[in-house]
Amino acid sequence: MSTMEMIKEIGVVPVVKIDNIEDTQPLMEALIRGNLPVAEITFRTACAEEAIRIASKNYPDMLVGAGTVITSAQAIRAIEAGAKFIVGPGYSATVAKVCQTRDIPYLPGCVTPTEIITALDAGIDTVKFFPASVYGGLKAIKALAAPFTTVKFIPTGGVSADNLAEFLAFPKIVACGGSWMVADALVKAKNWAEIERLANEAVEIAKKRN
Ligand code: 3PG
Repeated sequence: MSTMEMIKEIGVVPVVKIDNIEDTQPLMEALIRGNLPVAEITFRTACAEEAIRIASKNYPDMLVGAGTVITSAQAIRAIEAGAKFIVGPGYSATVAKVCQTRDIPYLPGCVTPTEIITALDAGIDTVKFFPASVYGGLKAIKALAAPFTTVKFIPTGGVSADNLAEFLAFPKIVACGGSWMVADALVKAKNWAEIERLANEAVEIAKKRN
């Protein structure tokens, strides 16, 4: 199964922020126990690259990607650390090139028609729609899907267990990203049991989509 097929099959991408490197393993294990073996580890903290390396090495069955990738240098570091997909808050031509050369899926943040056309020009047909709740949510995605018939979306930002089913019911949405099951407060409190529970709840919601 390709990386994009796996993301679609799981339907949910946890957006992970690791402040303390020692949290990497228990956090990955909580996601695995919650049947959510995917993590977008974001370049918002100094230890992101190391966390990607640890997660990829220790959990080969887990789909580990990098998030908040803004520069080509970050993309290279992430891929060399083992990231299997790259997510960015916006589109970067240089990140796109790095990913294309290394045959790694790039999910750039695109919320306007022009940004989507830019991604299409680079051969990308799946985009992150971020921050989803701010840029019009499902209504905006449906409006954009009308002219862009081949484009698929991964809404992220403001997604939760309460609206996940509604997003996933729209066929052009392959998956949703979000941090609600790996919220900062839960990681800080090392509340792995709650992370596992929320991960599993998200997976159960995603499974019900048809
Ligand atoms: C992201 O970078 O994708 C977001 O921070 C995730 O948004 P959320 O925290 O609203 O889930």
